[in-house]
Amino acid sequence: MTIALREFITRRKKELNALILAHFYQPPEIQDVADFVGDSLQLARQAAETDAGVIVFCGVSFMAESAKILSPDKMVLLPEIKAGCAMADMISANGLKNLKEKHPGAVVVCYVNSTAEVKAESDICCTSANAVNVVKSIPADRTIIFVPDRNLGAYIRSRTGREMILWEGCCPVHDRLGGEEVRNQMKLHPGAKVVVHPECPPDVIQLADAVRSTAGILNYVKTSPEKEFIIGTEEGFLYTLQQNCPDKVFHLARQEFRCEDMKLTSLDKLAAALERLEYQIEVPEDIRQKAYITLERMLKVN
Ligand code: 13P
Ligand code: SF4
Repeated sequence: MTIALREFITRRKKELNALILAHFYQPPEIQDVADFVGDSLQLARQAAETDAGVIVFCGVSFMAESAKILSPDKMVLLPEIKAGCAMADMISANGLKNLKEKHPGAVVVCYVNSTAEVKAESDICCTSANAVNVVKSIPADRTIIFVPDRNLGAYIRSRTGREMILWEGCCPVHDRLGGEEVRNQMKLHPGAKVVVHPECPPDVIQLADAVRSTAGILNYVKTSPEKEFIIGTEEGFLYTLQQNCPDKVFHLARQEFRCEDMKLTSLDKLAAALERLEYQIEVPEDIRQKAYITLERMLKVN
């Protein structure tokens, strides 16, 4: 069954001249059939640069939306329309407009984990991979509003020394990890390096040997002479790490570290998406044009 599905996906992909993009948190079988697996920044770059006619985004809605914003002439498909991001839903365009009114002249930096409408209300976007550089690119005399992740915002603040007005949003999956759990893992695996995602809360960040985006974590463990790591991010990523570094040992920082939305994609749904050309992502043109500027500024930073 799985073999037949994989064959269908490969054949249909060729017929459509489609590119299958997958985030690192996607289930192993999806990572295996994807043309490219990466972090949010790498995936946005792929979407902006591809000459494929159709982009199938195995991830969550804000990622597929970003692909459509960057490549409006391409058909962008999200195999499961319900795959959203709880953090992106923690801020609305109206909420951001109200905050901007309280701080006229502030530069708004929005994390890519946000809706197209929120991007359209922002000045520049960032991902966890380039957030520090994006904030450093803003003149020192400008006030910065950062939305919606307070944990990533606090981390950027600690790295840049910049004062920022933070939105009170977070990723419920990463925010749940506590310093106590990490310390327990450190006791169980003394000598293991602790590498975490910047969506984790500050008490976890303080304990980490390295704080990186998902692609950054992969690069860190690949190039490290160390053999054992405690990983503070979503569990799907362990598959990627094990595939890339079979001689190294990885421990999840907590038992349950799962983004349910990322697990909504399956081979069945991917095959159906390719067969029926669904679900097509559309962004109203006025919103898209404004959000495009926000994303484009980010892509120029590095
Ligand atoms: P990355 O950009 O590091 O892959 O993170 C995306 C994300 O949604 C983390 O929860
Ligand atoms: Fe959103 Fe968190 Fe899931 Fe990433 S892990 S997609 S931030 S809910």
